[in-house]
Amino acid sequence: MESSIVFIKDAKEATSWYLVEDQVLFGEISQVQLNEKSYLLVGIKQEQFTEDIIRHLAGNIRKKLNKNVFNRVYIDFHQLFNSISNLSTDRILLLFFEGWFLSGYQFAKFKSKKPQQNIELVFDQKFNHHAETALRRAESVCVARDLCNEPANQLTPDLYANKLEELFEGSKVNVSFIKGKDLTDRGFHATQKVGKGSINKPIVALLSLQNGSQRHISLVGKGVTFDSGGTNTKQASNIVDMKMDMGGSAAVVGAMKLLNDLDVNVNVTTIIPIVTNVSGGKAYLPSDVIQYANGLTVEVGNTDAEGRLILADGLLYAQSIGADTIIDIATLTGTIGQALGLKYAGLFCNKMEDFGVYHKIGEQSGDPVWPMPLEKDYQMYLESETADISNVGSCKFGGAIIAAQFLSNFIDNHKKWIHIDMANTVKAYKLSGYYTAGATGFGVRLIVDLIQKEVEQYVY
Ligand code: BES
Ligand code: ZN
Ligand code: ZN
Repeated sequence: MESSIVFIKDAKEATSWYLVEDQVLFGEISQVQLNEKSYLLVGIKQEQFTEDIIRHLAGNIRKKLNKNVFNRVYIDFHQLFNSISNLSTDRILLLFFEGWFLSGYQFAKFKSKKPQQNIELVFDQKFNHHAETALRRAESVCVARDLCNEPANQLTPDLYANKLEELFEGSKVNVSFIKGKDLTDRGFHATQKVGKGSINKPIVALLSLQNGSQRHISLVGKGVTFDSGGTNTKQASNIVDMKMDMGGSAAVVGAMKLLNDLDVNVNVTTIIPIVTNVSGGKAYLPSDVIQYANGLTVEVGNTDAEGRLILADGLLYAQSIGADTIIDIATLTGTIGQALGLKYAGLFCNKMEDFGVYHKIGEQSGDPVWPMPLEKDYQMYLESETADISNVGSCKFGGAIIAAQFLSNFIDNHKKWIHIDMANTVKAYKLSGYYTAGATGFGVRLIVDLIQKEVEQYVY
């Protein structure tokens, strides 16, 4: 069945379509039949348009069409262009297409009955280029969604490594791994310890893209394929979501794919410690002491605070290879959600004067971030009787800030460092717009846009 999308911005147009005024308010979607043809009338009456509103609008339109089983739909963008004065037509097109593609995603590989979801969007061919760029972006976000949605038994460290090899085969991204005894030889002491409890042994993946820029940027993503908490076993009933504890790594993988696919001129090295955090005879224990590559010793106060332990290995490695800017991203703490709710990830940075720029990039990218403080005063909560510091804070407040403070012990303050805690945004908090059930793919677009800003290729 076919339909046509018609954007309607005011009451005058409403009456010519036999609609009441309320039906042209922004986001209202009505399906009508006229002269045996089907139309989807989309209200767009609104003063200001944010970027993500356009993506979500496209998502809602696609979902409505899907519900009404249309498989081909014609769209004329002109009315949309005319109504939105604060965004360029190029931008409107990119946003609309991005939302359209992202909302078509479903993780159905384990469903016996596959949902029918193919809707052909027919538009003026001169917009093909916009659609293609948006498709590249959406595809990389969906790579991250797929990785997060995979069950833990389908994404062990080994299987994850295989997927990475496949994903980047024939691309400019070079993929290599550190495994077994090499882990400690090359400084990944915590990764080896945290991962040794599982029969699925830890691996560090290194992805590098050398495509022209002088600035060396390093990304570090938390790749915990399942977080049972270890000996400090988790109690929560929604522990299945801990298959997504590799969401930070999925974000950096998706970002590398997108940087490659858009042929961005950057020099990026991505470091992904991949472990499965379980308890058992071979697992690391509370009270164990880990000595890091920089000599610092850490007492394991809690095996469930494993993310910061393995990230610290990655941060040290990033500095050892000479990165100028380091961005780490992780599903690090439950408390970031207590602080910010489920929409904004927390962003910490040792050059906080830049936060205004990061905030804007977050809003525009569709992966919003909110500032969180790095607070040296909280270092006292990380005191340990046995080692230099503990991996868990003695204060029950401000857990996400204490975790960030822990990480700052592994950063040379001359380096620019951004830490993103996305524990609260890895999974969709709403299913409207371009969000779909399961993982959001949070961080892919944010990181690519942050990198483009770093190398001054950010254009929006
Ligand atoms: N993977 C969790 C954080 C998390 C919680 C991610 C909820 C997604 C949803 C992390 O490893 C963890 O367990 N953190 C603990 C730290 C605590 C033991 C200091 C937490 O936040 O409770
Ligand atoms: Zn944990
Ligand atoms: Zn974790």
